[in-house]
Amino acid sequence: MGLKIAVLKETAEFEKRVAVSVETVKKLSNLGALIMIESGAGEGASVPDDAFKEAGATIAKGQADLYKGANIILKVQAPNDEELGRLPKGALLIAMLAPYTNGDLVKMLAKNGVDGFSMELVPRISRAQSMDVLSSQSNLAGYKAVLDAAENYTRAFPMMMTAAGTIPPAKVFVMGAGVAGLQAIATARRLGAVVTATDVRPAAKEQVESLGASFVAVENEEFKEAETAGGYAKEMSKDYQKQQAELVAAHIAKQDIVITTALIPGRPAPKLITDAMVKSMKPGSVIVDLAVESGGNCAGSSPGKVVKKHDVSIVGHANVPSRLATDASALYAKNLLNLLNLIIDKDNRKLAIDWDDEIIQGVALTKDGKIIHPNFTEKKAEEKAPVKKAAPKKTPAKKPAAKKDKS
Ligand code: NAI
Repeated sequence: MGLKIAVLKETAEFEKRVAVSVETVKKLSNLGALIMIESGAGEGASVPDDAFKEAGATIAKGQADLYKGANIILKVQAPNDEELGRLPKGALLIAMLAPYTNGDLVKMLAKNGVDGFSMELVPRISRAQSMDVLSSQSNLAGYKAVLDAAENYTRAFPMMMTAAGTIPPAKVFVMGAGVAGLQAIATARRLGAVVTATDVRPAAKEQVESLGASFVAVENEEFKEAETAGGYAKEMSKDYQKQQAELVAAHIAKQDIVITTALIPGRPAPKLITDAMVKSMKPGSVIVDLAVESGGNCAGSSPGKVVKKHDVSIVGHANVPSRLATDASALYAKNLLNLLNLIIDKDNRKLAIDWDDEIIQGVALTKDGKIIHPNFTEKKAEEKAPVKKAAPKKTPAKKPAAKKDKS
């Protein structure tokens, strides 16, 4: 008997993605695996059961059928308590487990004898780029943030010269120029907006400018040294924050749209837009806060809601990648497939995990009933203050700065 891979239907609020695509089901079937999918798992991503069946999957007849003898369980988000209780002992669970915010999950996996791999913890090394779920999902979120801004904006993005008069282009300011921010810049430019952006990492300046946007930041000595070895932002000094806030405040007052994407791994999102800054914007302006689930970059943003403050719409949609469920699922599924290719022995059609591989050491939380990830062993877990999430439950956590290696 070859491997059995079970794919669960997601249960979390706002979650429409699915962990496999037609393409990855075909490739996994070709590896000789039995792919059993919970009925309706692809519904939110517009993949009907029949499409999965045609690709070679089997649709489970019920819960018992689904879990029985499964060697690998694929999910997007962490399992809920009921699912956790059903996972067969000895199985390998692969999902975005958000271990830093999901309380006792790691302990429960160990207790139940389930090996857990968390996809957000894939190290940022070149060999693992094709498995990097933070990048694949943030890229789509950055694009969608611009569309969400446009939807809530009562004017046009591009300049239009018509017989009835000229419409000026929208001014868009992107705060945080990582994966999501850079895609937001590119998308807003394509729509014809005049785009500016800021970031605390000096490397972002060149990337922003190469996309045709202007860079706005206090470029002092601290800024020049702000990037960590892993290519991530670090928390800036109070003095820098003050100077940057003054510069940004004057800039924001002149913008139509602000999109915030700023995150610091392992810490709450930095507060970048105060209530006074919101108030300084013209009526009808729009702010999209992509960091809303990590505490928010903008005062007043609320997870899962669009709120109006001082005549400005503050958009705080939850789980933005899931709002593009088909593409987000296809890319996530491909990220998973690339990891599976690393751990499946194609000749013998069985699992062959190299526990010493840097990628596996990055993602593996539990093994044979024990917590093996250094950040979650008893002592470490107590020392580590988890990032306080505003809500909703089970959103992917950012990985800690310690593990990164930019390439
Ligand atoms: P992220 O999602 O953790 O943060 C988003 C952005 O917010 C970052 O650019 C960060 O510098 C910025 N930020 C944080 N605090 C800020 C503040 N106070 N004001 C303004 N901006 C602030 O970051 P993401 O998008 O995951 O990537 C960050 C870096 O990792 C980039 O340099 C990227 O090129 C690199 N990267 C490397 C990969 C690889 O080698 N495999 C894959 C993906 C990204």
